[in-house]
Amino acid sequence: MIEIIHISDTHLKSDARHPHNIRLERALAHIAGKHPKALLVASGDICDNGRRDEFLQAYKLFSKLDNPKLIVKGNHDKDIKGIWPARVLRRFCKKTGIRCPLGSWPWMNKPFCMQSEGGKLLLIGLDSNDDRFGAEGKIGKRQLKWLARNLKRPAQHRIVALHHHPWERDFLCKLKDAEQFLQTVSSANLDMLFFGHRHKPGLWRDRYGIKIISAAGALYDETNYRLFRIHNDGRIDFELEKYR
Ligand SMILES: [Fe+2]
Repeated sequence: MIEIIHISDTHLKSDARHPHNIRLERALAHIAGKHPKALLVASGDICDNGRRDEFLQAYKLFSKLDNPKLIVKGNHDKDIKGIWPARVLRRFCKKTGIRCPLGSWPWMNKPFCMQSEGGKLLLIGLDSNDDRFGAEGKIGKRQLKWLARNLKRPAQHRIVALHHHPWERDFLCKLKDAEQFLQTVSSANLDMLFFGHRHKPGLWRDRYGIKIISAAGALYDETNYRLFRIHNDGRIDFELEKYR
């Protein structure tokens, strides 16, 4: 059995005592205590304004958790000038000698693919941000090709995470190449698709050929997170885990 936890949109602030930061701290402490082996998926907007101090807060909080992590970028993880402060954090890591705990994020402005659970689980994190526009998303032709290629890797279970809602049509919020993205994933025998962005939780079964699609709400607004279990026979169930 494989356990997967989905959180999103933590919108961390520079101040460690800000309620958003405290909420994540509590959630991560709960996960560490109850589900120390679960894969943690965080589907973007980790920071609120892409500020360096916010990234450092994220870094400190996530580094306390030993669980495997799949973290992708959201549109709030860049600053007002559209700059991703990855270089700043890379320097911080080098200086302190601390291993980056954030998986794919925010070190590479490119998608991320890895296999875990002895090759059984294929994890793909996408960068769905359209750098030219505020909250709009775009996967882009190059990344879609990359995605199609990597989804063919042999694995028992396939999981994809991105920040943007793949079929939302709201002005300035939509994923512009949603149709192409859904076409790509719908033929890939995907087990789970995770996203955030709209701060509205949702759960869909058997859509676009995907067993489970999960949209997480904003963590700072909630006192629970979703825990999924992929059973050995391929069945997936989930429950809400409450924490204080
Ligand atoms: Fe958000």
